[in-house]
Amino acid sequence: MSGPIFLQSACGATIPLPVRRWRAEASAGERRLLTGLEGPVLDIGCGPGRLVGALAEAGRPALGIDPSPTAVEEAAARGAPVLQRSVFGPLPAEGRWGSALLVDGNIGIGGDPVGLLRRVRDLLEPGGTAVVEVEPPGQASAILHVRVCRSGPIGPWFPWARVSSDHIAGLAIEARLDPGDLQRRRRRWFAWLKRP
Ligand SMILES: C[S@@+](CC[C@H](N)C(=O)[O-])C[C@H]1O[C@@H](n2cnc3c(N)ncnc32)[C@H](O)[C@@H]1O
Repeated sequence: MSGPIFLQSACGATIPLPVRRWRAEASAGERRLLTGLEGPVLDIGCGPGRLVGALAEAGRPALGIDPSPTAVEEAAARGAPVLQRSVFGPLPAEGRWGSALLVDGNIGIGGDPVGLLRRVRDLLEPGGTAVVEVEPPGQASAILHVRVCRSGPIGPWFPWARVSSDHIAGLAIEARLDPGDLQRRRRRWFAWLKRP
C-alpha cells in the first residue's frame, strides 16, 4: 500500500500523521523548546526518537519510551536512549523526572487525557514540568476510536484523543497539575503544566 498515512476515526474524521517529520531530525524550533527543559527528560511516545535523540546529542539526560518495536529500533539506531515500554507500565525513575514530553499529539495516548496526565504527574518530580502539544484555540477536543490507514486500514481500532488549547488547563487541574504558559511556536501550540 502507498500514499499518505493517517488516522481514521470511527466517526469518519481523518487526522494526518506527519511521519516524515517524525523520522527527520529535530527542527531548530524544537531544539529551542528542548533547551528550556529541566532534566532528566522523559519523551513519552518518542517514535523514531528525533527529540530524545537531540537531547542525547546535546549531552542532556533523557529517555524515550514507546511500545512500538519498530519505533524503538529506529530510535536506537540514531543513538537515542530508548526503552520499549508503555507509559502505563513500570518505568525507571518514577517520581524523579524533571520534565516529560507529550508532543506530536501524544496527549491522545490511551484516549483518556486526564488519566494520562495523572500518570505523567506521578512520573514527574515535585516541581517537574510536562510539556504537552495541543490543538490550536478554537479547535474541538474529542475522545476518539481510530485506526491507522494508508489507502486502507493497516491496524486495529484503538482509543485516542485530541485536546484543544482551550481545554488543557481544565484537564490539568483535574489531574492535579498546575497549568502554566500556553505558548504558540509557529503553527504549533504547547501547554506547560507543573507538578505542585
Ligand atoms: C502520534 S505518534 C508520535 C510520534 C513521535 N513523537 C515521533 O516523533 O515519531 C504516537 C506515538 O505514541 C506511541 N504510543 C502509543 N501508545 C503508547 C503508550 N501506551 N505509551 C507510550 N507510547 C505510546 C506510538 O507507538 C507512537 O510512536
